[in-house]
Amino acid sequence: MREFAGRTAFITGGASGIGLGMAKVFAWAGMNVVAGDIREDHIAAAHDAIADEGLAERVRFIRLDVTDREAFAAAAEEADAMFGKLHVLCNNAGIGLLKPISTASEADWDWAIDVNLNSMFNGVKALLPRIRKHGEGGHVVNTASMAGVLQYSQAGIYVTTKFAVVGFSEALRAELAPEGIGVSAFCPGGVRTNIREYEKTRPERFAVEAETRSGPPPGFSFTEEQRARLASLTASPEEAGELVLQGIRDNALYIFTAPEFRAGVEERFAAIRRALGQDEERAAVARELIPGLVGSPIYNEAP
Ligand SMILES: NC(=O)c1ccc[n+]([C@@H]2O[C@H](COP(=O)([O-])OP(=O)(O)OC[C@H]3O[C@@H](n4cnc5c(N)ncnc54)[C@H](O)[C@@H]3O)[C@@H](O)[C@H]2O)c1
Repeated sequence: MREFAGRTAFITGGASGIGLGMAKVFAWAGMNVVAGDIREDHIAAAHDAIADEGLAERVRFIRLDVTDREAFAAAAEEADAMFGKLHVLCNNAGIGLLKPISTASEADWDWAIDVNLNSMFNGVKALLPRIRKHGEGGHVVNTASMAGVLQYSQAGIYVTTKFAVVGFSEALRAELAPEGIGVSAFCPGGVRTNIREYEKTRPERFAVEAETRSGPPPGFSFTEEQRARLASLTASPEEAGELVLQGIRDNALYIFTAPEFRAGVEERFAAIRRALGQDEERAAVARELIPGLVGSPIYNEAP
């Protein structure tokens, strides 16, 4: 997508943090935005922030729980009535439930899968038909994380959901490319948001004893000095939003914010290469007979 003025985006988790950053940046570029969010207080504050910027006409907020398929369908209708044609879907809502897999409860696991992963499918089901309908092309951005390409032992559930979001995005990109609809996996590093407040959105059906609720994992306790150095690696929500807009413009396969993790990614791929071995004859057969897996444009032609 190269034209943004007058086009419409739907952003989930759009009333805080990265989603709100995207909403502002998109509106600055002349787009209309429908921002869905589960938290009424975030919606109220975001509404005021957007009004202060003089963007109230272009950015509308609706209450939406991304795990609720019926509500998603109704939100799609609502967005249609507000601005008409939809071009961009940002599946961004997520919870930062950072807990190791081995000590997590069933409720933690189910809740994280529901919000961070099932919501991606729900968003595509509800809104992709509206992007397809006008035939003008469009773009889907799925917010994964740096934890979608690198594991972190204290955050196994989160890592599982975010690795899945990257796979979901790559496969959907291959599916939709012939229709002129781009798909990007957005993998931010640290962004200064309200992500640590996620317990406030835990629904009754995923309730856990208060003492087992997840706080910051042990690896996340830093000294003041370390904290300051880490802060220098983080981005603002608006900076993240700018990178997403550029990624849509470039039809990027991946959108990253944090080059400091490149070394870790190279280590991971080196481990995969070592384990996989190499056989050029077999690769030639695969390239010819299963080109969706070896030689795929998804990896070879993406910016
Ligand atoms: N902040 C970071 O450092 C960081 C890094 C990597 C990835 N991410 C991802 O970015 C995305 C946005 O998070 P953020 O950092 O802006 O946090 P945030 O908490 O500031 O914003 C997330 C928003 O999503 C909303 N939300 C939560 N559950 C929802 C639900 N079921 N339905 C609808 N809305 C819901 C929240 O109310 C909140 O307004 C998440 O997917 C997160 O995993 C964040």
